[in-house]
Amino acid sequence: RGKRAFIAGIADDNGYGWAIAKSLAAAGAEILVGTWVPALNIFETSLRRGKFDESRVLPDGSLMEITKVYPLDAVFDTPEDVPEDIKSNKRYAGSSKWTVKEVAECVKEDFGSIDILVHSLANGPEVSKPLLETSRYGYLAAVSASSYSYVSLLKHFVPIMNPGGASISLTYIAAERIIPGYGGGMSSAKAALESDTKVMAFEAGRKHRVRVNTISAGPLRSRAAKAIGFIDMMIDYSSENAPLQKELAAEEVGNAAAFLASPLASAITGTVLYVDNGLNAMGVGV
Ligand code: NAI
Repeated sequence: RGKRAFIAGIADDNGYGWAIAKSLAAAGAEILVGTWVPALNIFETSLRRGKFDESRVLPDGSLMEITKVYPLDAVFDTPEDVPEDIKSNKRYAGSSKWTVKEVAECVKEDFGSIDILVHSLANGPEVSKPLLETSRYGYLAAVSASSYSYVSLLKHFVPIMNPGGASISLTYIAAERIIPGYGGGMSSAKAALESDTKVMAFEAGRKHRVRVNTISAGPLRSRAAKAIGFIDMMIDYSSENAPLQKELAAEEVGNAAAFLASPLASAITGTVLYVDNGLNAMGVGV
């Protein structure tokens, strides 16, 4: 039987989630997607109208199939957590069962189990503010959407993950080094994500034989990255200073994720894998 993957955090064909889905599909996996509720309508419409067909092409010429798209808002764990203003929000009212617990239950009902869980989402309302100007609300919101969202996803999905399964998230070098401009507590959120990767590797490994790793990715011009506002500068900086002087393709991160999810990586867990043209290894730019 082929493997089944659930990828949380795809709403267009530009981000890392989409590229990971493609690499997993090319390796024969069945693809399930979790899409942020407010972005669901446009994503599904674009998919149906063929807007993504060119980017759905796999190396063998076939088109990536997405078996099912689930609405998801990873800052809410159960229906009891959802406040009134969100419940009655037009963009949410049209969908149902989109809290983390409910999505895991729906996937269990539809497919029974999964083998691969991917967390490719982040959000920080104050990302463009320096840390010293970030409010408590902004900081906690960044950690809720970008770090705890992963703890919650794994918590709810690991019971339906087959032994030998793998989980992957996306992190950024700002967790461990100073990256001016990556503010609002987003650097803090990535530091939490990297630490949680180790602890969850232990807990999910011992209890479920599931591996947990994170990819520290170089800069990509995704929708989320454009919102931060410094992405073109980071791409130029990397091309100038990294050991490999080329622009990073999303596909390169997708392929690394497919490796980490595969039996080729059967002894790798609790690690941060850099997929960044080697930029992390530089001490000074030259
Ligand atoms: P993206 O915009 O393709 O993906 C972010 C996704 O998160 C979007 O689809 C958005 O709808 C979703 N999202 C936001 N809040 C959500 C919520 N509450 N519930 C469910 N989904 C939610 O952008 P990108 O850059 O591909 O981001 C994917 C991951 O890669 C993120 O963790 C990001 O921090 C990480 N990353 C990105 C880098 C870059 O330069 N683009 C560099 C290093 C890491």
